Amino acid sequence: MVIQMSEIRAYLLAVVIGTLLRGYDCKNVLFIVIDDLRPDLGCYRGSDFPATTDPPIYSPNIDQLASKSILFKRAHVQQALCSPSRTSFLTSRRPDTTLVWDLNAYWRNVSGNFTTIPQYFKNHGHMSVGMGKIFHSPNVSGHDDPISWSLPYHRENPGKLEGHERSWKFVPDNDTIADPLQDMRIAKDAITTLGYFAKGGKYQNQPFFLAVGFIRPHLPFISPISYSKHYPQESVILPRNPLPPVHMPPVAWTNINELSQYDDMVALQASGAINSSLPDNTTLGLRKAYYSAVSYLDAMVGSVLDELKRLNLDNNTIVSLIGDHGYHLGEHGLWCKFTNFELATHAPMIIRIPGLTDQGIVTESLVEMVDLFPTLVEASGLPKLPVCPPNSKSVRTCTEGESLMPLVSNPSMKWKNAAFSQYPRTQSMTNIMGYTIRTDEHRYTEWPEFSYTTHTPDWTRLHGKELYDHTIDPDENVNRSADPLYANITRILKARLHAGWRDSSPSINPSVIVG
Ligand SMILES: *[C@@H]1O[C@H](CO)[C@@H](O)[C@H](O)[C@H]1NC(C)=O
Ligand SMILES: *[C@@H]1O[C@H](CO)[C@@H](O)[C@H](O)[C@H]1NC(C)=O
Ligand SMILES: *[C@@H]1O[C@H](CO)[C@@H](O)[C@H](O)[C@H]1NC(C)=O
Ligand SMILES: *[C@@H]1O[C@H](CO)[C@@H](O)[C@H](O)[C@H]1NC(C)=O
Ligand SMILES: *[C@@H]1O[C@H](CO)[C@@H](O)[C@H](O)[C@H]1NC(C)=O
Ligand SMILES: *[C@@H]1O[C@H](CO)[C@@H](O)[C@H](O)[C@H]1NC(C)=O
Ligand SMILES: *[C@@H]1O[C@H](CO)[C@@H](O)[C@H](O)[C@H]1NC(C)=O
Ligand SMILES: *[C@@H]1O[C@H](CO)[C@@H](O)[C@H](O)[C@H]1NC(C)=O
Ligand SMILES: *[C@@H]1O[C@H](CO)[C@@H](O)[C@H](O)[C@H]1NC(C)=O
Repeated sequence: MVIQMSEIRAYLLAVVIGTLLRGYDCKNVLFIVIDDLRPDLGCYRGSDFPATTDPPIYSPNIDQLASKSILFKRAHVQQALCSPSRTSFLTSRRPDTTLVWDLNAYWRNVSGNFTTIPQYFKNHGHMSVGMGKIFHSPNVSGHDDPISWSLPYHRENPGKLEGHERSWKFVPDNDTIADPLQDMRIAKDAITTLGYFAKGGKYQNQPFFLAVGFIRPHLPFISPISYSKHYPQESVILPRNPLPPVHMPPVAWTNINELSQYDDMVALQASGAINSSLPDNTTLGLRKAYYSAVSYLDAMVGSVLDELKRLNLDNNTIVSLIGDHGYHLGEHGLWCKFTNFELATHAPMIIRIPGLTDQGIVTESLVEMVDLFPTLVEASGLPKLPVCPPNSKSVRTCTEGESLMPLVSNPSMKWKNAAFSQYPRTQSMTNIMGYTIRTDEHRYTEWPEFSYTTHTPDWTRLHGKELYDHTIDPDENVNRSADPLYANITRILKARLHAGWRDSSPSINPSVIVG
């Protein structure tokens, strides 16, 4: 396949016109990151993504944002865990480059002195301000990576009502007046900060990059009780696939992990073992509380977006909203993230670019979270990022993703033909790295042994492989990697997985673009 000249022209024209129209005006970025938010939102619903509740998730504010944005229906994170995923999208490099696969490593110490998104905007004249959870934890990011910010970073601690004894809880709305929840305080902080940049504010003529990281719907699923009214008990349903995929290699599994630390879960003595699941009404209670936390979070996002509009900053501010990875809510008997399944790697990604996405654009093209950095840079008219060379340890600023701006002009084109993710495991002292490739129709995963000395997999020592056919099995219920009918596709995907992301990158290998 080749790129049509007409498309290149259309794209270049759009870039030129966009730059002329926006010029100095489109200068700000509001960068919203939400923890553990799977794309279970009103705006994602459709025959391609059936609702998991009836009626669907109540997310009017994010839906409204999406209606004036480009909505990426198929965005995937590079590793379904907070710190590796955040480090990856904030530096636009993949975990095998950042060397952050866990919750303890700080990339500037273990891999290289890589530039982050807020740091790049700061270096280009923006005031970069951050609050809430952007980096995983102050402890593992040199105290929220001071180099990235123009003003001291501002975290918020959990509030009095946010005790960590139970996995979920609804709190009386009135109690939050005296003791606001953490995300309420983060939203308030964002609202106050926006005022600094509005007319009459103390930084009124400064372009800004404002990063706002919300905590919920992360465990414990706590929200003001009023949000639970959107989910009467009969609207909450059990997952339709409570069992692991047929022929699943055990290495693909994870136990209930962070869910197991809460007293109500301890009391259940849930093992989290393969083929076990939580009692049905525990699952229903957790699902209802997760959805309620999503609706509560949606209201917090709405309060910040309303203020952006009220201050007349909305038409010269790019808004990006993403989840740091997906989430299992009992599907396959799994909970939380920590896997290479679709539910863990698939996350929301929405970008509003005033003047370019006002009519609302939806794209089904596969994209990756490493694409966010080059996209925001190009949308803001800042100097583009070069693609990282194979060894980029000493290159401060580069990308292992791709700007997604071509999809703004042509959302039906296939820009990338694959998304790559990974997840580490240890089995009887053996280090394993699961690598997965998501193509238009399939997901193929291999679990090779991995060396933490050379940072490379040994593809000859596999602990499992999986193939899911999304055309007939969107829930990934049957591993078909040894099915003779799939021998050809397995062979092709194996080669593509081993070849890695560069082979599927439009700027390195333009033959992947289908438009
Ligand atoms: C990392 O890079 C920044 C500039 O981007 C520089 O100020 C800082 O000193 C560097 N740190 C190290 C440890 O090299
Ligand atoms: C960070 O470090 C502080 C002080 O050592 C500790 O109390 C806290 O639990 C740590 N937080 C995380 C998330 O590890
Ligand atoms: C990173 O390195 C600095 C300097 O050696 C050290 O003080 C800091 O504790 C390290 N941080 C992490 C999270 O490893
Ligand atoms: C909550 O606060 C409102 C207004 O202050 C009050 O009218 C209402 O009775 C309170 N509700 C409860 C349950 O305390
Ligand atoms: C889980 O159940 C399936 C179907 O009964 C079975 O084939 C598989 O061996 C079980 N796995 C484990 C680890 O028990
Ligand atoms: C589960 O069922 C028990 C017994 O019927 C009930 O007491 C409990 O409240 C239920 N839990 C949830 C989360 O619905
Ligand atoms: C933004 O909106 C405000 C109020 O609607 C308007 O006055 C202003 O001209 C707009 N700016 C741009 C760049 O469109
Ligand atoms: C599924 O995965 C296992 C473990 O990797 C593999 O041995 C098996 O052949 C696969 N099953 C099928 C039906 O493809
Ligand atoms: C696999 O590919 C070979 C050669 O390209 C072809 O002859 C064969 O029919 C294919 N098998 C299936 C099951 O599609």
